Amino acid sequence: MTTTAPAGTGAPGRARIEAKTLRTDRWWLQPLITFTVLVLFIIYSTIRAFMGSHYFRDPYISPFYSPCLASGCGPAPHLSIFPSNAFFTPAIYILIFPLGFRLTCYYYRKAYYRSFWLSPPACAVAEPHSRYTGETRFPLIFQNVHRYFFYAGLVFNLILTYDAVLSFRDASGAWGHMGLGTLVLLINAGLLWLYSLSCHSCRHIVGGRLNHFSRHPLRYRFWTVVSRLNTNHMKFAWASLFSVAFADFYVFMVATNTFSDLRFF
Ligand code: FES
Repeated sequence: MTTTAPAGTGAPGRARIEAKTLRTDRWWLQPLITFTVLVLFIIYSTIRAFMGSHYFRDPYISPFYSPCLASGCGPAPHLSIFPSNAFFTPAIYILIFPLGFRLTCYYYRKAYYRSFWLSPPACAVAEPHSRYTGETRFPLIFQNVHRYFFYAGLVFNLILTYDAVLSFRDASGAWGHMGLGTLVLLINAGLLWLYSLSCHSCRHIVGGRLNHFSRHPLRYRFWTVVSRLNTNHMKFAWASLFSVAFADFYVFMVATNTFSDLRFF
Protein backbone atom coordinates (compact mmCIF):
# COMPACT_ATOMS: atom_id res chain seq x y z
CA MET A 1 0.00 0.00 0.00
CA THR A 2 1.34 3.45 -0.87
CA THR A 3 0.76 6.46 1.31
CA THR A 4 0.93 10.06 0.17
CA ALA A 5 3.00 12.40 2.30
CA PRO A 6 1.25 15.64 3.22
CA ALA A 7 2.27 18.56 1.01
CA GLY A 8 2.43 22.30 1.63
CA THR A 9 2.70 23.49 5.23
CA GLY A 10 2.06 19.94 6.44
CA ALA A 11 5.03 18.51 4.56
CA PRO A 12 7.70 16.79 6.59
CA GLY A 13 10.54 19.10 7.47
CA ARG A 14 8.41 22.24 7.42
CA ALA A 15 8.36 24.41 10.54
CA ARG A 16 5.27 23.84 12.68
CA ILE A 17 3.66 27.30 12.71
CA GLU A 18 -0.01 27.56 13.55
CA ALA A 19 -0.48 31.12 12.26
CA LYS A 20 -1.53 31.44 8.60
CA THR A 21 1.21 33.99 8.19
CA LEU A 22 3.64 36.02 10.22
CA ARG A 23 3.56 38.86 7.73
CA THR A 24 2.33 42.15 9.14
CA ASP A 25 2.24 44.17 5.92
CA ARG A 26 -0.82 44.52 3.68
CA TRP A 27 -0.01 41.35 1.71
CA TRP A 28 -3.69 40.95 0.79
CA LEU A 29 -3.81 44.21 -1.18
CA GLN A 30 -2.15 42.95 -4.35
CA PRO A 31 -4.30 39.82 -4.78
CA LEU A 32 -7.38 41.92 -4.00
CA ILE A 33 -6.51 44.47 -6.70
CA THR A 34 -5.70 41.68 -9.17
CA PHE A 35 -9.01 39.97 -8.41
CA THR A 36 -10.99 43.20 -8.80
CA VAL A 37 -9.36 44.26 -12.07
CA LEU A 38 -9.68 40.81 -13.64
CA VAL A 39 -13.34 40.51 -12.61
CA LEU A 40 -14.07 43.95 -14.08
CA PHE A 41 -12.33 42.98 -17.31
CA ILE A 42 -14.27 39.70 -17.49
CA ILE A 43 -17.59 41.52 -16.95
CA TYR A 44 -16.80 44.20 -19.52
CA SER A 45 -15.50 41.81 -22.19
CA THR A 46 -18.42 39.39 -21.69
CA ILE A 47 -20.97 42.18 -22.12
CA ARG A 48 -19.23 43.48 -25.21
CA ALA A 49 -18.74 40.03 -26.74
CA PHE A 50 -22.44 39.21 -26.43
CA MET A 51 -23.57 42.66 -27.48
CA GLY A 52 -22.82 41.84 -31.12
CA SER A 53 -23.12 45.47 -32.21
CA HIS A 54 -21.27 48.81 -32.25
CA TYR A 55 -17.88 47.29 -32.91
CA PHE A 56 -17.15 49.00 -36.21
CA ARG A 57 -17.07 52.56 -37.41
CA ASP A 58 -15.12 53.06 -40.58
CA PRO A 59 -12.10 52.83 -40.50
CA TYR A 60 -11.97 51.41 -36.96
CA ILE A 61 -12.80 47.90 -35.85
CA SER A 62 -12.79 46.71 -32.25
CA PRO A 63 -10.05 44.19 -31.38
CA PHE A 64 -12.76 42.04 -29.74
CA TYR A 65 -14.32 41.50 -33.17
CA SER A 66 -11.33 41.20 -35.46
CA PRO A 67 -10.99 39.14 -37.57
CA CYS A 68 -14.71 39.19 -38.30
CA LEU A 69 -15.43 35.65 -39.48
CA ALA A 70 -19.23 35.62 -39.22
CA SER A 71 -21.97 36.54 -41.62
CA GLY A 72 -23.45 39.19 -39.35
CA CYS A 73 -20.47 41.53 -39.36
CA GLY A 74 -22.39 44.28 -41.15
CA PRO A 75 -20.21 46.90 -42.82
CA ALA A 76 -17.01 45.62 -41.13
CA PRO A 77 -14.58 43.78 -43.45
CA HIS A 78 -15.39 40.13 -42.93
CA LEU A 79 -15.28 36.56 -44.14
CA SER A 80 -18.74 35.00 -43.92
CA ILE A 81 -17.52 31.64 -42.67
CA PHE A 82 -19.88 31.20 -39.74
CA PRO A 83 -23.50 32.19 -39.13
CA SER A 84 -24.13 34.61 -36.32
CA ASN A 85 -27.08 35.04 -34.00
CA ALA A 86 -27.83 36.49 -30.57
CA PHE A 87 -25.55 33.99 -28.83
CA PHE A 88 -22.91 33.32 -31.46
CA THR A 89 -21.87 36.88 -32.16
CA PRO A 90 -18.79 37.44 -34.36
CA ALA A 91 -16.71 37.91 -31.18
CA ILE A 92 -17.63 34.50 -29.76
CA TYR A 93 -15.99 32.66 -32.66
CA ILE A 94 -12.57 34.19 -32.06
CA LEU A 95 -12.58 34.82 -28.32
CA ILE A 96 -11.10 31.44 -27.42
CA PHE A 97 -7.72 32.41 -28.90
CA PRO A 98 -6.90 35.60 -26.97
CA LEU A 99 -8.69 34.20 -23.93
CA GLY A 100 -6.77 30.91 -24.06
CA PHE A 101 -3.52 32.79 -24.58
CA ARG A 102 -4.03 34.88 -21.45
CA LEU A 103 -5.53 32.12 -19.33
CA THR A 104 -2.55 29.85 -19.92
CA CYS A 105 0.04 32.65 -19.68
CA TYR A 106 2.64 31.91 -17.01
CA TYR A 107 2.22 35.35 -15.45
CA TYR A 108 -1.59 35.32 -15.40
CA ARG A 109 -1.51 31.82 -13.93
CA LYS A 110 0.42 33.17 -10.99
CA ALA A 111 -1.94 36.15 -10.77
CA TYR A 112 -5.19 34.21 -10.74
CA TYR A 113 -3.91 31.25 -8.72
CA ARG A 114 -3.11 33.80 -6.03
CA SER A 115 -6.09 36.09 -6.29
CA PHE A 116 -8.91 33.64 -7.16
CA TRP A 117 -7.76 30.34 -5.63
CA LEU A 118 -5.54 31.75 -2.88
CA SER A 119 -3.00 29.13 -3.80
CA PRO A 120 -1.15 30.72 -2.08
CA PRO A 121 -2.55 34.27 -1.74
CA ALA A 122 0.95 35.74 -1.28
CA CYS A 123 4.51 34.76 -0.46
CA ALA A 124 4.87 33.36 3.06
CA VAL A 125 1.09 33.14 3.53
CA ALA A 126 -0.35 29.66 3.96
CA GLU A 127 -2.97 28.60 1.47
CA PRO A 128 -6.34 27.30 2.65
CA HIS A 129 -6.08 24.08 0.61
CA SER A 130 -4.73 20.99 2.30
CA ARG A 131 -3.47 19.34 -0.88
CA TYR A 132 -1.31 20.54 -3.72
CA THR A 133 -1.18 18.69 -7.00
CA GLY A 134 0.43 21.35 -9.15
CA GLU A 135 -0.29 21.35 -12.85
CA THR A 136 0.40 17.69 -13.43
CA ARG A 137 -3.15 16.41 -13.74
CA PHE A 138 -6.56 17.31 -15.16
CA PRO A 139 -7.63 20.07 -15.63
CA LEU A 140 -4.49 22.15 -15.04
CA ILE A 141 -2.35 19.89 -17.20
CA PHE A 142 -3.99 21.68 -20.13
CA GLN A 143 -1.99 24.78 -19.20
CA ASN A 144 0.71 23.12 -21.30
CA VAL A 145 -1.08 24.18 -24.50
CA HIS A 146 0.19 27.70 -23.91
CA ARG A 147 2.74 27.57 -26.70
CA TYR A 148 -0.01 26.80 -29.25
CA PHE A 149 -2.05 29.74 -28.05
CA PHE A 150 1.14 31.76 -28.42
CA TYR A 151 1.27 30.85 -32.13
CA ALA A 152 -2.42 31.76 -32.51
CA GLY A 153 -1.73 35.04 -30.69
CA LEU A 154 0.90 35.94 -33.29
CA VAL A 155 -1.70 35.56 -36.05
CA PHE A 156 -4.05 37.84 -34.12
CA ASN A 157 -1.28 40.39 -33.65
CA LEU A 158 -0.70 40.46 -37.39
CA ILE A 159 -4.40 40.98 -38.03
CA LEU A 160 -4.74 43.74 -35.43
CA THR A 161 -1.63 45.45 -36.81
CA TYR A 162 -3.23 45.28 -40.26
CA ASP A 163 -6.39 46.86 -38.78
CA ALA A 164 -4.26 49.66 -37.32
CA VAL A 165 -2.62 50.27 -40.71
CA LEU A 166 -6.04 50.36 -42.42
CA SER A 167 -7.12 53.03 -39.96
CA PHE A 168 -4.82 55.48 -41.76
CA ARG A 169 -7.65 55.75 -44.27
CA ASP A 170 -10.72 57.91 -43.87
CA ALA A 171 -14.28 56.62 -43.94
CA SER A 172 -14.34 56.82 -47.76
CA GLY A 173 -11.22 54.62 -48.03
CA ALA A 174 -8.73 57.37 -48.97
CA TRP A 175 -5.26 56.96 -47.44
CA GLY A 176 -3.26 59.60 -45.60
CA HIS A 177 -5.55 60.29 -42.65
CA MET A 178 -5.12 59.77 -38.96
CA GLY A 179 -7.46 60.07 -36.04
CA LEU A 180 -7.26 59.42 -32.32
CA GLY A 181 -8.71 55.98 -33.08
CA THR A 182 -5.69 55.24 -35.31
CA LEU A 183 -3.39 56.03 -32.40
CA VAL A 184 -5.47 53.88 -30.06
CA LEU A 185 -5.32 50.89 -32.43
CA LEU A 186 -1.59 51.40 -33.06
CA ILE A 187 -0.74 51.51 -29.36
CA ASN A 188 -2.90 48.45 -28.75
CA ALA A 189 -1.18 46.50 -31.53
CA GLY A 190 2.25 47.56 -30.23
CA LEU A 191 1.48 46.47 -26.67
CA LEU A 192 0.10 43.15 -27.89
CA TRP A 193 3.36 42.53 -29.76
CA LEU A 194 5.37 43.37 -26.66
CA TYR A 195 3.19 41.05 -24.59
CA SER A 196 3.62 38.19 -27.10
CA LEU A 197 7.34 38.68 -27.71
CA SER A 198 8.07 38.81 -23.99
CA CYS A 199 6.25 35.49 -23.49
CA HIS A 200 8.15 32.71 -21.70
CA SER A 201 7.24 30.28 -24.48
CA CYS A 202 8.62 32.71 -27.05
CA ARG A 203 11.88 32.81 -25.12
CA HIS A 204 12.06 29.05 -25.13
CA ILE A 205 11.12 28.82 -28.81
CA VAL A 206 13.89 31.20 -29.91
CA GLY A 207 16.61 30.09 -27.53
CA GLY A 208 15.62 26.83 -25.91
CA ARG A 209 17.04 23.33 -26.47
CA LEU A 210 20.44 24.63 -27.52
CA ASN A 211 23.63 23.27 -26.06
CA HIS A 212 25.88 25.91 -27.56
CA PHE A 213 24.77 29.49 -28.10
CA SER A 214 28.11 30.11 -29.81
CA ARG A 215 27.01 27.88 -32.69
CA HIS A 216 23.71 29.74 -33.10
CA PRO A 217 24.58 33.46 -33.00
CA LEU A 218 21.30 34.59 -34.56
CA ARG A 219 19.17 32.62 -32.15
CA TYR A 220 21.35 33.88 -29.32
CA ARG A 221 20.69 37.44 -30.41
CA PHE A 222 16.92 36.82 -30.54
CA TRP A 223 17.06 35.11 -27.16
CA THR A 224 18.91 38.09 -25.67
CA VAL A 225 16.26 40.53 -26.92
CA VAL A 226 13.36 38.32 -25.83
CA SER A 227 14.99 37.77 -22.43
CA ARG A 228 15.21 41.51 -21.95
CA LEU A 229 11.54 41.92 -22.86
CA ASN A 230 10.68 38.94 -20.68
CA THR A 231 11.73 40.76 -17.51
CA ASN A 232 8.84 43.17 -18.18
CA HIS A 233 6.31 40.53 -19.15
CA MET A 234 4.01 41.33 -16.22
CA LYS A 235 3.87 45.01 -17.19
CA PHE A 236 3.11 44.15 -20.82
CA ALA A 237 0.43 41.69 -19.68
CA TRP A 238 -1.43 44.41 -17.78
CA ALA A 239 -0.79 47.21 -20.27
CA SER A 240 -2.06 45.14 -23.20
CA LEU A 241 -5.11 44.01 -21.20
CA PHE A 242 -6.03 47.64 -20.56
CA SER A 243 -5.23 48.71 -24.11
CA VAL A 244 -7.36 46.01 -25.71
CA ALA A 245 -10.33 46.94 -23.49
CA PHE A 246 -9.77 50.64 -24.14
CA ALA A 247 -9.51 50.14 -27.92
CA ASP A 248 -12.83 48.30 -27.87
CA PHE A 249 -14.36 51.01 -25.66
CA TYR A 250 -13.12 53.75 -27.98
CA VAL A 251 -14.64 52.09 -31.05
CA PHE A 252 -17.84 51.49 -29.07
CA MET A 253 -18.06 55.18 -28.17
CA VAL A 254 -17.43 56.33 -31.74
CA ALA A 255 -19.80 53.72 -33.22
CA THR A 256 -22.61 54.80 -30.90
CA ASN A 257 -21.96 58.50 -31.69
CA THR A 258 -21.26 59.15 -28.01
CA PHE A 259 -18.37 61.25 -29.26
CA SER A 260 -16.70 61.87 -32.59
CA ASP A 261 -13.28 60.63 -33.51
CA LEU A 262 -10.65 63.34 -33.12
CA ARG A 263 -8.96 63.82 -36.51
CA PHE A 264 -5.28 64.78 -36.53
CA PHE A 265 -5.01 65.11 -40.31
S1 FES B 1 4.03 33.48 -20.57
FE1 FES B 1 2.62 35.11 -20.62
S2 FES B 1 2.03 35.11 -22.70
FE2 FES B 1 3.36 33.41 -22.59
